[in-house]
Amino acid sequence: MSRNNKKADESKDFEFLDQTLRPVKWGEYIGQENIKKNLQILLNAAKERKHPPEHLLFYGPPGLGKTTLAHLIAKETSSQMRSTSGPAIEKVGDLASILTNLSPGDILFIDEIHRLNKAIEEVLYPAMESRFLDIIIGKGPSARTIQLELPAFTLIGATTRVAMLSSPLRSRFSGGIFRLEFYNPEEIKSIIKRSANILGVKISNEAMDSVAKRSRFTPRTANYLLKRARDYAQIQKKDIDQDVIDETFSLLGIDNMGLNNSDRSLLETIAKKFAGGPVGLNTLAASLSEEEATIEEFNEPYLLQIGFLERTPRGRSLTPLAYKHLDLKPPKEKQEKLL
Ligand SMILES: Nc1ncnc2c1ncn2[C@@H]1O[C@H](COP(=O)(O)OP(=O)(O)O)[C@@H](O)[C@H]1O
Ligand SMILES: [Mg+2]
Repeated sequence: MSRNNKKADESKDFEFLDQTLRPVKWGEYIGQENIKKNLQILLNAAKERKHPPEHLLFYGPPGLGKTTLAHLIAKETSSQMRSTSGPAIEKVGDLASILTNLSPGDILFIDEIHRLNKAIEEVLYPAMESRFLDIIIGKGPSARTIQLELPAFTLIGATTRVAMLSSPLRSRFSGGIFRLEFYNPEEIKSIIKRSANILGVKISNEAMDSVAKRSRFTPRTANYLLKRARDYAQIQKKDIDQDVIDETFSLLGIDNMGLNNSDRSLLETIAKKFAGGPVGLNTLAASLSEEEATIEEFNEPYLLQIGFLERTPRGRSLTPLAYKHLDLKPPKEKQEKLL
């Protein structure tokens, strides 16, 4: 199977799982306690004032629960949610039509909001701040601006790359900017338990621990691995036990730290081609024939979290832990740093 086909299959799997397994009640949304507490206060205060909640931004690596939070907030406030994404809004007119079609109290969810272009951002600022939409009618010297008043709405933005957001845009999220954290193994395990129930599969406790350990502390990955194990178990006509898990992971090329082939080739490339780094992101991306954004969004957050990678102003470096995991010898100066 080609790499692109494999990626497309994976994303279909993700889509199906996201929809089937997405928590629909706050009680089902495990972890992120700090964010939940803050949101409860904010939502209650808004309810008391009889006003839609202020604009919110969620950021963090893919699969940690940003979209789910937006859905839960819509549910909690009994609002209608309109979903779009940065790349889907190509022209100022696209945004204008979305905004003018909002009803009072609606939630507008913009995923991948870092991909909005500058011209569109500039229309968004006044809309967020004072609920005005400036539209330019006509062209050249006869052009004039008309101002439309918008209904009270709540914008919820989500992004995997918060650093790419301009600071004026960031400052408009008056309700707060929240960073989603990786989950701890117990939280992941409860998510797996719930998902196994919904998918109707039996899984041993030991197998659950194994999935949790390889899930990159990420609910979406945990659900994906569980589903792949279920498929394998189904063919074998058995429940999910440790053997099924071991087979599934070896078929997927996922090791005991949850690293996949692309993580390993990234680490090995830094070790072998760049003497352990530091190496700049663009050089690394070119060497791997991978996109910078993919590396930054999908590979790096987890590798940084488990201490396999270090990010310095001069680029990315491997840590001794990574060398140990790859079973490679660190170069001399890195060994000395260890002493
Ligand atoms: N806190 C959570 N508790 C339980 N399941 C979760 C949680 N966060 C995410 N999930 C699961 O992971 C999937 C992906 O979450 P999603 O909100 O789409 O992530 P993001 O938008 O951050 O990429 C959801 O469909 C859900 O099944
Ligand atoms: Mg999402």
